[in-house]
Amino acid sequence: MLLVYFTVLLLLPCSQRVVCGDEYHPDIDEETRLKVEDRVSRNAGESTAQYWYEEARAAIRKRQVRDQRRGVARNLVMFLGDGMSVPTLAAARTLLGQRQGNTGEEAKLSFENFPSVGLAKTYCVNQQIPDSACTATAYLCGVKNNYGTLGVAAAVRRRDCAASTETANRLESIAAWALEHGKDIGIVTTTRITHASPAGAFAKSANRNWEHDGLVREDGHDPAQCPDIAHQLIHEHPGKHFKVILGGGRRNFLPNSTRDEEGTRGRRTDERNLIHEWQDDKRERNLSFAYAWNRAQLMSLMESPPEYLLGLFEGTHLQYHLEANKTTEPTLSELTEIAIRSLSRSEKGFFLFVEGGRIDHAHHSNYPHLALDETIQLSEAVARAASMLPEEDSLLVVTSDHAHVMAINGYSPRGENILGPSNDRDSDGVPYMTISYANGPGARAQNNGSRPNVVVENDFGRLRWRSHADMPLSSETHGGDDVAVFARGPHHHMFTGLYEQSQLPHLMAYAGCIGDDAVNYSHCQ
Ligand SMILES: *[C@@H]1O[C@H](CO)[C@@H](O)[C@H](O)[C@H]1NC(C)=O
Ligand SMILES: *[C@@H]1O[C@H](CO)[C@@H](O)[C@H](O)[C@H]1NC(C)=O
Ligand SMILES: *[C@@H]1O[C@H](CO)[C@@H](O)[C@H](O)[C@H]1NC(C)=O
Ligand SMILES: *[C@@H]1O[C@H](CO)[C@@H](O)[C@H](O)[C@H]1NC(C)=O
Ligand SMILES: *[C@@H]1O[C@H](CO)[C@@H](O)[C@H](O)[C@H]1NC(C)=O
Ligand SMILES: [Zn+2]
Repeated sequence: MLLVYFTVLLLLPCSQRVVCGDEYHPDIDEETRLKVEDRVSRNAGESTAQYWYEEARAAIRKRQVRDQRRGVARNLVMFLGDGMSVPTLAAARTLLGQRQGNTGEEAKLSFENFPSVGLAKTYCVNQQIPDSACTATAYLCGVKNNYGTLGVAAAVRRRDCAASTETANRLESIAAWALEHGKDIGIVTTTRITHASPAGAFAKSANRNWEHDGLVREDGHDPAQCPDIAHQLIHEHPGKHFKVILGGGRRNFLPNSTRDEEGTRGRRTDERNLIHEWQDDKRERNLSFAYAWNRAQLMSLMESPPEYLLGLFEGTHLQYHLEANKTTEPTLSELTEIAIRSLSRSEKGFFLFVEGGRIDHAHHSNYPHLALDETIQLSEAVARAASMLPEEDSLLVVTSDHAHVMAINGYSPRGENILGPSNDRDSDGVPYMTISYANGPGARAQNNGSRPNVVVENDFGRLRWRSHADMPLSSETHGGDDVAVFARGPHHHMFTGLYEQSQLPHLMAYAGCIGDDAVNYSHCQ
């Protein structure tokens, strides 16, 4: 069934009728969306960047009254757990504690010790429950926009290439703001580097799926007018100025006539090798640079990283940490450490974005063990950064883009295995898991009116065993809950409260005295 579905996707071009998307994120039919949108009336101002800038400014003015602190954050680091909902945090800290031989619930993820915590609202302009593209635009560009679009305001509908080229609709990210203030920039992720979250730092695209030129063409557009996301990273402002670029996704940088170092075929249809083009550019400009495709190469650069570092460790996403080949695959902590070592040499400080991107993927597959372990990996990466960067001059912000529909349910006693069945039974006397999902591929058919007993399944307890879900779906969905925001460093108080997700980069800019508004902040004088 799944195979048939994907085969159909491969054969037909994406259109309003054929719903396309990546494995984890099926697109939403645009006709259906239009019908829904006709019924609701939105504030027309929401389609402009100005609206969201003003929304954030007003909130900063309010909070600023109580911000007595002075000082400026020289370094700005944003950590993003993709799909790291509040229940995911609670379950991951419990797993962490249980791995250490304790009951678990009392444990803390590294960033749960940060002095300020807030909540961010994640809806997008045309969507109650968002995706990683509109949320990346919010937390990196400071503007809410449409589902599936990146770095462009909500006046741009998904796949509207022409509208995305209009200057008024194009947004600059906090990475570009920081660059303008002479800071160095790095991006780190466990997904393809062209995937929605990291792309929010550098791309302007009417469709998050336009990761290579062939996908722009498939949607009927000309990559010369709307360049793909990989191309933008290597050749356009601000991506081409980034000093550290670490993640996966080699296939989007290589021509489809070639295979990469590990045998993955390239996806580009324009015969261009963007990895060579990146290297040639640095060579021509006589800059120190290195390209790494495996862990050993990366670790050999750790002591004295080159000025420009590009590391692409997989054809697509990095492997899940618990399944990874440790000789080829660096950990998120290692990636974070080399990024900070490299960027710390910058005279005027830096902006770094670090994503634990596969929490989301594991949840989509109803794999709680992998999702929680990826969360613990992010926690370790934050701990590594916190130990390297002084609290007085470095602002660390840890947050998530959106929630998932994982629940921690039942009435298990203290210290019960967080990955095991509840102490309880359902009304038919059948066991159920403490961690389950409202929907996803883990849904099972009932036997004669009652749930099957999942704990006797052959693969129960394996990493890729799916926990049970109520409603069958090929990919579990995101959730519409608020997400947590943790902050440490200069002006961390500004991150308390409940606010729009699009305020986040404005708050970071406030703390770091970057962006257009800095001239008006007294602590920036
Ligand atoms: C590469 O892309 C071109 C252009 O779409 C196509 O004609 C060709 O068949 C592709 N090659 C492979 C090996 O897929
Ligand atoms: C390139 O850099 C090297 C080492 O810094 C220097 O010796 C050389 O003169 C530079 N060449 C050019 C063309 O700038
Ligand atoms: C890990 O990758 C290396 C290099 O490709 C390979 O030689 C080795 O067999 C792999 N190890 C495992 C456990 O797959
Ligand atoms: C279904 O449940 C009923 C009532 O408990 C029972 O009589 C019947 O034998 C069951 N059928 C099967 C196929 O298990
Ligand atoms: C700074 O404040 C002045 C005076 O209130 C105002 O006119 C100006 O628009 C502000 N600048 C920015 C970038 O907000
Ligand atoms: Zn997702």
